[in-house]
Amino acid sequence: IRQLVKQRRPRGFPPGPSPIPVIGNIMSLATEPHVFMKKQSEIHGQIFSLDLGGYSAVVLNGYDAIRECLYHQGDVFSDRPSLPLFMKMTKMGGLLNAKFGNGWIEHRQLASNSFRYFGSFQKPLDQKILEECMFFVDAIDEHKGKPFNPKHLVTNAVSNITNLIIFGERFTYDNCDFQHMIEIFSENVELAVSGWAFLYNAFPWIEYLPFGKHQKLFRNAAKVYNFLEQIIRRFSEGRVCNFPRHYIDDYLNKLDKSAGDLGTPYSRENLIYSVGELIIAGTETTTNTLRWAMLYMALYPNIQEKVHTELDSVLGSEKSPSLADKKRMPYVEAVLHEVLRFCNIVPLGIFRATTQDTLVSGYNIPKGTMVITNLYSVHFDEKYWCDPGTFSPHRFLDSNGNFVRREAFLPFSLGKRHCLGEHLARMEMFLFFTTMLQRFHLQFPPGTVPSLTPKLGMTLQPLPYSICAVRRQQ
Ligand code: HEM
Repeated sequence: IRQLVKQRRPRGFPPGPSPIPVIGNIMSLATEPHVFMKKQSEIHGQIFSLDLGGYSAVVLNGYDAIRECLYHQGDVFSDRPSLPLFMKMTKMGGLLNAKFGNGWIEHRQLASNSFRYFGSFQKPLDQKILEECMFFVDAIDEHKGKPFNPKHLVTNAVSNITNLIIFGERFTYDNCDFQHMIEIFSENVELAVSGWAFLYNAFPWIEYLPFGKHQKLFRNAAKVYNFLEQIIRRFSEGRVCNFPRHYIDDYLNKLDKSAGDLGTPYSRENLIYSVGELIIAGTETTTNTLRWAMLYMALYPNIQEKVHTELDSVLGSEKSPSLADKKRMPYVEAVLHEVLRFCNIVPLGIFRATTQDTLVSGYNIPKGTMVITNLYSVHFDEKYWCDPGTFSPHRFLDSNGNFVRREAFLPFSLGKRHCLGEHLARMEMFLFFTTMLQRFHLQFPPGTVPSLTPKLGMTLQPLPYSICAVRRQQ
C-alpha cells in the first residue's frame, strides 16, 4: 500500500504551499478545504500540489484545467487512488471506488443498464418517482404548516428511488433499520475527509490506536456491510434466472454466469460494495440538493414566487408535474441549476488518480498520483461567472426567459468517471421540487433565519434547520 501512495515528486511536478514536517499540508484542510484550495490556486496556479503527509496530491482548479485533464486526457485521469482508507473499505472493487479497468467497466455497465431498463421490470421510472412524490408531500402535510426539520423526510423519499432500482421496492418512512444504516453511512461520508482520515492514509499504523475518528469510520462501515449483506440475501430470495426483478437479481445472474471464470470481477463482496455505493451516492447528494433548494426558497420569497407563478401557469393546481413539462419551466430549471452551482454538493468531486505518467500545462504528473478536482472552483470561476458569490437563477436564463446551458457547470463532474446517476438525479430533483412547491409555500418559523454555512464532508449539506410548509391557496 505504502508504495502505491508514497509518490515520488519528479522534476516538473506542480508546485504547492510549503508543507509542515511529517504532516505536510493536512492541517490546512481542516476547515473548508475547497475554499483553501481555490485561494492556493491564486498563488500557485490552477494546477498545484499538496503534501498529504508524505504522499502528494495534485489539485485541479478552475474550468480550463479540469476540462483539460478530465475531458481532453479522459483515459489518463480516470483511476481512483489506492489510499489505505479506500483499500480497507472496498479493496478498490465495487463501482464508485473501483480501479480503472475491466471490473469498473462491468460494474458501471451493469448499474446503468439496471437504471435504463427499470421500466421493463416495473412501471416507467418517472411514474414511480411521482408516486414517491405523493407520499412525500402527504408526509409534509402531516406537519400542518408547523415548523419541522425536513432532513429525514427528504432522505427517506429520495433513498426510495434507488431502493426501487436496487431492491424493486420502496421502504415505508418508519423503517428504522434502513434509516439507521443510511445515517451511519452518511456519517462516514463526512468522516472520509476528516483530518483523521487523511492521517490514516498517511500513517495506516494508526489503525492500532484505540482512539480517533477513523475507528468510528471502521465501526460504521462494518455495521453497514453487515446490514447490506442481510438485506441483499432477503431480496434475492425467489430469484428466477433470466427474469431479473431488480439490480440485485441482475447482479446475481451475472455472478452465476461467470462461475468458474477466474478473472471475473463479479463477487458477493463486490455486490455489497456496489449496492452500498449506489445507495449512498444516490441519496446523500440528491437529498442535500433538495434541502438546500428548500432553504433558498424560504430565504428568497421573491424567487419562490416566480417558481409558483411558473408552476401555476404550466400545471395549475390539479395536474401533477411530468418530465414533459420540464421544457416549459425554464425558471424552475434555472433555480435548480443555480442551487447545484452555488451550493456545491460535492465540492471536491471524488478523488481521482492517473493511469499513466502524463504532462499537463508543462507539469509532469506520474502514474498513480492522487488528483483532487475542485468542482467548487469551477462554479466560482470568475472567468466564466459574473459575481459568482451571489445566488441568482437569472444567470441560467437569456433575455427572453429561456433556459441556457452554461459551460462551466460541472456538479456531476466530467469525463469517464462522471456521475453515473446524473439523469436519474435530474428527474428526481425536478419532480420532487415541483410537486412540493405546487402544493406548499415554504417559510422559516417567524423570527428565525437558519445558518447558510455548510456542514463539511465529502458532500456539503445545510446544518439542520426548521421550516414551515404552508398549503397554498390557488
Ligand atoms: C460519481 C455528483 C446523484 C451515482 C459522482 C461524482 C460527482 C457526483 C461529482 C464524481 C465523479 C468523478 O469521479 O469525477 C452527484 C450529484 C448528484 C448525484 C451532484 C445529485 C444531485 C447520483 C445518483 C446516483 C449517483 C442519483 C445513483 C443512484 C454515482 C456513481 C458515481 C458517481 C455510481 C461513481 C461513478 C464512477 O466512479 O464511475 N456523482 N451525483 N449519483 N455518482 Fe453521482
